[in-house]
Amino acid sequence: MTQPLHAFHCRCRATFEVEQHWVGRLMVCGGCGVFVVVPRESGKPVHVPTLARSTERLEIDLAVRRDWRQVHEIDKDPENYKFEISGPHTARETRRRIRAGRFPSGFKKSRSLVFKVVLRETGKVVGLVPVGYVLPYYSVNLGVVIHHPHAGKGFGREAVAAVTAILFEELGVFKINAMCDSLNHRCVRLLESVGFEREGEARSWLLHPTRGWIDSPYFAMFNPSDASLHAGRLAVADERGAP
Ligand SMILES: CC(C)(COP(=O)(O)OP(=O)(O)OC[C@H]1O[C@@H](n2cnc3c(N)ncnc32)[C@H](O)[C@@H]1OP(=O)(O)O)[C@@H](O)C(=O)NCCC(=O)NCCS
Repeated sequence: MTQPLHAFHCRCRATFEVEQHWVGRLMVCGGCGVFVVVPRESGKPVHVPTLARSTERLEIDLAVRRDWRQVHEIDKDPENYKFEISGPHTARETRRRIRAGRFPSGFKKSRSLVFKVVLRETGKVVGLVPVGYVLPYYSVNLGVVIHHPHAGKGFGREAVAAVTAILFEELGVFKINAMCDSLNHRCVRLLESVGFEREGEARSWLLHPTRGWIDSPYFAMFNPSDASLHAGRLAVADERGAP
């Protein structure tokens, strides 16, 4: 049985009829080349994503070239890597990561973004939330680091909640995945308190340089706007009006 197609038009007036799995997702308009989110209702305008948010104490936005020194302060500090299998980044790696995450130019190829977490009070970058698509443009892996002098003050929770909102509300992501070291209790607590659910645990998932093989719980969160998909229904109703 074929699914009904979903009709919409871009801001550039190009019209499209797409399959159901595009509904609510990011796509590149074939007319103007801009990243837009396909409206959930036919006839409604496309959404052009905004990738910045303010919270009570933080500004969340994409890291740009001029941030590289501040980002590198975090990237290069071994204290931030206690639960990581990778080591501190070189300056070159930091610059490359920021370049790859530039939206839309770097993102088109890398499908990754690097959100900076800026303390409003001081204007300083205190953390990063890197995001990489594993299934464009449905599902992403999310990471987080809060520079250790600022850890334990709730910034991680605030930042991940804000990035999660950007991913769901602006970019139409279907599922956000996150994994961490099973002994990283603060990270586990952070993910749970933002609303991630533990889906399981991967045994001997990461090879730590000093601790050997470590287990990793697997967390995920689904876009609340996709509730109908979870119920096994189509993203939009068919001609009979029955989803
Ligand atoms: C893990 C990390 C991102 C957490 O960010 P943070 O700003 O320090 O965390 P928060 O202050 O927002 O606290 C998050 C939760 O952990 C709880 N928490 C704090 N310290 C804790 C501890 N030692 N053990 C267990 N839970 C703890 C907090 O109470 C909070 O839960 P709540 O929202 O229910 O109150 C941060 O410490 C970090 O960057 N660590 C190094 C890099 C890293 O491990 N990244 C994760 C890789 S996936």
